[in-house]
Amino acid sequence: MPISSKDTPPPNENIASKQTYPEDQIHSSLTANHYLSADIYQKELARIWRRHWIYVGRADELKSPGDFKVLRIAEREILLVLDRSHKIGAFYNACSHRGSVLCEAESGQLKSGRIICPYHQWSYGLTGELLSTPRIELGSQATSLGLDRVLLTEWAGNLYLNLDQTSDLTISDAMIPGPTTLNNWPLSTLKVRHRMQFDIRCNWKIFWENYLECYHCPGIHPELCRIVPLYQAGLATDHLKSGFKGEDRVASGVESWTETGRAIAPTLEGLSKAEVKAGHTFLEIYPNQYIVAHPDYVRQVSILPSAPGVTRVTAEWLFAPDVLENPSFDPAPAIEFCERLLHQDARVSELNQRGLAAKPHHQGVLIDLESDVWDFHEYYRTWMKDTDAD
Ligand SMILES: [Fe+2]
Repeated sequence: MPISSKDTPPPNENIASKQTYPEDQIHSSLTANHYLSADIYQKELARIWRRHWIYVGRADELKSPGDFKVLRIAEREILLVLDRSHKIGAFYNACSHRGSVLCEAESGQLKSGRIICPYHQWSYGLTGELLSTPRIELGSQATSLGLDRVLLTEWAGNLYLNLDQTSDLTISDAMIPGPTTLNNWPLSTLKVRHRMQFDIRCNWKIFWENYLECYHCPGIHPELCRIVPLYQAGLATDHLKSGFKGEDRVASGVESWTETGRAIAPTLEGLSKAEVKAGHTFLEIYPNQYIVAHPDYVRQVSILPSAPGVTRVTAEWLFAPDVLENPSFDPAPAIEFCERLLHQDARVSELNQRGLAAKPHHQGVLIDLESDVWDFHEYYRTWMKDTDAD
């Protein structure tokens, strides 16, 4: 799958040190141990997944005060709650008393207007303050026993958490190619029409590696290659020595990523002619999300690792509200086309994971068509060098 143009380097200091892949050379990939080892996986959770901004859903999923949702990120549980002033708070889903989980359900409504621990019934307000402790009066000590907050930010209607309280990264810092890439898309006003969630039996890095190269596209995605000649050439981006320019990314007459290549909704307001003609614009937010903005709809895909060899994928299809209000609107051509792509990628990602365990001490190679994978490995090595994260 493709990545966006590398014309604008990411401003994130953690990843700005990336190098340019030396063309016409073969480079070593990561060793198989990086995809199989429980020890390396635990280091990744500490150094990457608990230190970066992680997409967790749309802000409009919580509608009424007291609505909540429980998330699992890097073996932590986080509770999102909408308070009475319609602000969303993020807290660890654990009681300050002896650590019991607070909300057992995955989502719901706190009908009492409080977060009540199911164990000893300590209760908290929707903004996390400790309100009551049965049979004991804590006095001024109660102030320090509120719920522990997690950093939360909203961008374009998307919610992101960062488990590192000391983080000075902003969500914009993590955007590749840059924070203005999708400025012309009205992402904050779009609504999710369809959400798909499934597990891929592969390490989370294999998901990204597959996304970052289109060497596999002619063999694996024949339908996509018919509408994107760039991919038929095995190219993920147009920055290589390809002769492809941005406006030639999709075949003549193709408007969007659908079964027919035709748009299924009016062009979103505000897009430039070049953005409409390009047919797709990509934004990556490492380590857990990419967004593909088409002229008529937006698709965003996020991942969360749940084990060294298991990655949960969530894909969302977003459309303009007035399009969704039309009872005759049919999103199926966009949904079915991209679901097929995701399943095609899932299949080869699982084959990749199996193969890495199939022989001892495997270490693969990367060719120049996989230069974005090489860049990703450079980011990865930078993140993992951060030795004070455990
Ligand atoms: Fe693919």
